[in-house]
Amino acid sequence: MAASTKVAKISSVFRNRLFKNKVALVTGGGTGIGKAITQELLYLGCNVMIASRKVERLEAAVDEIRTSIPGCQINYTQCNIRQEESVKAMVARTLEEYGKIDFLVNNGGGQFYSAFRDFNFKGWNAVVETNLTGTYLCLREVYQQWMKDHGGAVVNIIAEMFSGMPGMSHSGAARAGVENLTKTLAVEWADDGIRINCVCPGNSIKSETATANYGPAKSDIFESNLPTIPLGRLGKPEEVSAAVCYLLCPAASFVTGTTMIVDGGEILFNARWPTGRDNTKAYSWEDDCEEDNSTPKSKL
Ligand code: ADE
Repeated sequence: MAASTKVAKISSVFRNRLFKNKVALVTGGGTGIGKAITQELLYLGCNVMIASRKVERLEAAVDEIRTSIPGCQINYTQCNIRQEESVKAMVARTLEEYGKIDFLVNNGGGQFYSAFRDFNFKGWNAVVETNLTGTYLCLREVYQQWMKDHGGAVVNIIAEMFSGMPGMSHSGAARAGVENLTKTLAVEWADDGIRINCVCPGNSIKSETATANYGPAKSDIFESNLPTIPLGRLGKPEEVSAAVCYLLCPAASFVTGTTMIVDGGEILFNARWPTGRDNTKAYSWEDDCEEDNSTPKSKL
């Protein structure tokens, strides 16, 4: 790592060494929200294996994280979650390195913006294979190779698709599939001592990786969402990570098959709501009311 690189300060609201002697496998764990999850788990004493397709990204992340959390137990393994053999090898490699897998965080995924009419079968398959089939393969292999006999906890990271996902129909369909699969497995795997839940970050979680993906032309893409977020600010990857740590830890021992939405309340947004107009100004309900008390009209 370059000498001038800033060392990130890692922290957590959870107690020191909460995850001591635990082992987590985090797909997509080297960038963005995945990196924040990895860092918090490590900070809390967990051993973490991160996996992704791009070795150089994994190496850079491991380098950086070892500097910010000296002595932490992190390793990486290259994996394409779309390929069965690659996923089998990732899980086997994690077991070889650490001897067990207590936690699986299915965070690896991706999509591209395109109206439904504009992408072809190949584009559809690429997104569905990455987000739905990739998650299936990781779940299947961790279950077969470890959790069916030893139990564990799983968190699947999805995306806000509850009102459809215009411009990303492929991803919306795949993420909805993951959420439904989570509910089924919560029931099927309960007897195996496995809890499984989803965390759904809002569209307004601003990470360095996401900002870089959008590029300078769309540099305000996150800030432009502010009027629709009741809490009136953007979210941080660390706020998603805290939800993941909660769902993995014993505080959530009676929680399975659910989805925790981390979006500052954005899912509740409705154009007729005061937060949809201007979060920064005091609002009086009468501002919107007609003389005859009819339904308030949006000024958006
Ligand atoms: N992240 C995005 N696509 C991926 C893939 N195919 N394998 C692993 N991580 C990924």
